[in-house]
Amino acid sequence: MSSIPVPGNTLYKASSLPVETRIDSLLALMTPEEKAGQLNQVFSGHDPKMLPELYPELRAGGIGSFIWAMGNPGMRKKLPDGSVALRNQIQQAAVEESRLGVPVLFGMDIIHGASTVFPSALGLACAFEPTLFERSQAVAAREARATGLEWVFAPMCDLARDPRWGRVVETCGEDPYLSSLCNAAQVRGFQGDSVAAKDKVAACLKHYLGYSAVTGGRDKNGTDLDEWSLQNLHLPAFRASVDAGAMTVMSAFNEIDGVPVVANHHVLTEILRGQLGFKGFVVSDWGAVSQMLIWGYAKDNADATRLALAAGNDMDMLSKAFVKHLPGLLKAGTLSQEVVDEAVRRVLRVKFMVGLFEQPYADESACVLSPPRPADVALARECAAKSVVLLKNEGEILPISRDIRKIALIGPFADAPKEMLGAWDGHGEWAVTLASGLREKFASASITVVKGCDVSVTPRIKTLQDGSVVPDDSEPPVTGDLESSAAVEAAEAADLVVMALGEPRGWTGEGGSRISLSLAGNQQALFDAVAATGKPIVSIIFSGRPLALPAVWKESAAVLYAWQPGCQAGPGLADLLAGDVAPTGRLSMSVPYEVGQCPIYYNHYRTGLPCDGALGFRDSGVSHAKYWFGHGLTYTEFAYGPVRVIPAAAGKPATAVATVSNVGRREGEELVQLYIGQLYCHEGVRPLQELRGFQRVTLKPGETREVRFQLTDEALGHFDRRGGFKVDQAEFQVWIAPHARVGTPAVHSTDPVPKTEDPVEADPEAVCFGCDRGSWSVVSVSFDSPYTNSGMAGVKKLLDDNPKTYWHTYHQDKKVSAPPHEVVFDMGRELMVAALTMTPRRSSDFGCAGVPDQCEFHLSLDGKAWTFAARGDFQGLATNPCRQVVTLATPVKARFLRFVATRVANDESCVVVAGIGVVEAPRLDSEVNISSYMFSI
Ligand code: BGC
Repeated sequence: MSSIPVPGNTLYKASSLPVETRIDSLLALMTPEEKAGQLNQVFSGHDPKMLPELYPELRAGGIGSFIWAMGNPGMRKKLPDGSVALRNQIQQAAVEESRLGVPVLFGMDIIHGASTVFPSALGLACAFEPTLFERSQAVAAREARATGLEWVFAPMCDLARDPRWGRVVETCGEDPYLSSLCNAAQVRGFQGDSVAAKDKVAACLKHYLGYSAVTGGRDKNGTDLDEWSLQNLHLPAFRASVDAGAMTVMSAFNEIDGVPVVANHHVLTEILRGQLGFKGFVVSDWGAVSQMLIWGYAKDNADATRLALAAGNDMDMLSKAFVKHLPGLLKAGTLSQEVVDEAVRRVLRVKFMVGLFEQPYADESACVLSPPRPADVALARECAAKSVVLLKNEGEILPISRDIRKIALIGPFADAPKEMLGAWDGHGEWAVTLASGLREKFASASITVVKGCDVSVTPRIKTLQDGSVVPDDSEPPVTGDLESSAAVEAAEAADLVVMALGEPRGWTGEGGSRISLSLAGNQQALFDAVAATGKPIVSIIFSGRPLALPAVWKESAAVLYAWQPGCQAGPGLADLLAGDVAPTGRLSMSVPYEVGQCPIYYNHYRTGLPCDGALGFRDSGVSHAKYWFGHGLTYTEFAYGPVRVIPAAAGKPATAVATVSNVGRREGEELVQLYIGQLYCHEGVRPLQELRGFQRVTLKPGETREVRFQLTDEALGHFDRRGGFKVDQAEFQVWIAPHARVGTPAVHSTDPVPKTEDPVEADPEAVCFGCDRGSWSVVSVSFDSPYTNSGMAGVKKLLDDNPKTYWHTYHQDKKVSAPPHEVVFDMGRELMVAALTMTPRRSSDFGCAGVPDQCEFHLSLDGKAWTFAARGDFQGLATNPCRQVVTLATPVKARFLRFVATRVANDESCVVVAGIGVVEAPRLDSEVNISSYMFSI
């Protein structure tokens, strides 16, 4: 500690005293300038050797923290030689040459690994295994602390809803529940039981709050947020991570309700401290205090300082506004002493807790760089394999047979080690590529590797207003030429083609917004040329966001979404390709069909119409995501039985139960997911579905297991606008399903008052229009329909996407034969039918009140031999246009569907049907994941 004599009480140096006593003692000695210094975080440019220039400030006690003192992770630079020694010199100037000897806190962006680089968060979240985050961040914490860091700027708790926004890669995806688990696990991994331990660091939750809600996916744009969505969508992951003990929080660049977060008292104080109970300190994001001038919120930097501190932002990252203006503001009385002291207390508390006063120096000899330890490498490999999502596996082309003789590995990501490392690579210097992984795994096969086209990245540096140089992802990379002939040649000579495609990591992360979600550069042309050879293709996509790649989904026999898999990309992927490890990853973010659908996420609000939530477009039949959140195949197939709810009894919560069967040919692990949907809520509309639990089951072929989820308050509740958690008296839909937006729910009620069955009046124009009908066609009809222009032609017209056409067997002038009326469909292929649906049409539009209030569904494999499948009783639904669902006891394989209207309400000869659909048992055909095919009026 400082050799400079300090007047008065120096109890703060006594490690045996309680932290609060030490803080009081230190605070009492500090001048306004020294207090301002503690709240000042600096950066020294990219060259750590420039740091000594800051020594005079350090000696004056004017610097509380350094960012990136050990080199710049954003510049993909390895830890420069001697940087730990340099860090110790800085510390020496603060500890031994300043008046009070308060040590400096060193922070850095260690996001998904320091030396050992793990998959980016969006990918690792696909493992649905939060302990992987805990374990991998524990490795990162050890490696970071060994390089002299006590503080890392992770985890990112933002919610990813728009893949155009490049920073989705740093999030844990679109679901608040999964994000909460994964982020809290990261906090535990970083901080452990005692953050003073030599292998632990303080975590920083970012970007608090609402940064991911930038409109249009444009990084650093404004937001359009309300209290309801803050509480239920954007806050849960922060709340869980605060509960896990996170010591710091970073305030975000964006505004909320017109007020920049860095000066938003409601967000930083009322919510963060009042509702979430956060006790640590808040650091601004990069230059965000001064940026209030650019936003046009603050008059000048003095104003910005006052606004930020008064709102509850304690430390100023890089603006140097606090350090310049705080003493003057105190003197002028425009900033309260209490506010300043509280901010300083918070910063000092973290410094005491991480043990800096006792251990200000890093052990230069212990600095662990590369190569990572074998156990860490093994973990990185496990994480890489578990983060990959199998989207498609036609004809069980995967796993690849060990007997394969010739593989062509094609694409710019086949042998690109740095690309594997992802958006933030810490100090990681090496990665094993797919090419190396395959060569090792399929040692006896001949593997030809062809790059095919280039994806290079332009230098990414920009100069900020304050003169500092920072990474800049806004410049698109230069893409190289297409050289497809070698690729085509290799494909033609091979038994199997593996294509390694995607987007460069430099297109993701900060400033990485995209206008399209296509492959970068000439990769689409490369893919098309290779696909034209007709060889079976396994596509592996490396990307920091979900991409919309219709041709790849269609033409590839199999698709693995690999994200940014980290340093063990190659071995992890090879394990999956060879079937040594079965794929278990599930999408942490939905994959759109087209960029125009974005933002698209499974948990959107329960809208008035369309009643099945299939929000669509007039110029496209597409209303769903291509692959919804939670989707992911394994190397076997699973079928789900109907969900039932066992009511609460004897103090035990209600339980949702369903059977899951392995109907495939291999043993496999299934991730069974629990979704709930609250059917009515006076406080505000609730999402169509929300993930509230998941479990793994491993089943042998033919084996069935019952899976149970308790419907606890936690599973059913939500937050009110003041941050209170509650369970409403309401009805809830409950799904046990393999992913979001599939399956048929059971209903669970916490409402003691039964609801009255008044029909819902709704706009018939909007009824389920735009659902994907696949390749259905009408085979026969048993009646003559005057209104729809007779018989089959009329019914066929139902399939023409025109909202004005419908199946209607009644006309005022000409009655048709009495029921039963039937129509037979060819569904185009065999599918596993789990449930059948009928959507009645609001009948008042037609001058009759009839719907088929009783109907039957029959199924057939060949259109000749029929089996009765289900009976639907839709009495009383004459004016309700929402889809009615009949679940089959067990899924039935069929190609033909016969719908028979056996009884018609009110008018004996009238049938008005808007849609008939099939809910497919998941997994029969990985290509199709839209849950129903409907025809619509
Ligand atoms: C980013 C943060 C990061 C900080 C420090 C900012 O531009 O938004 O995520 O932690 O820089 O590197």
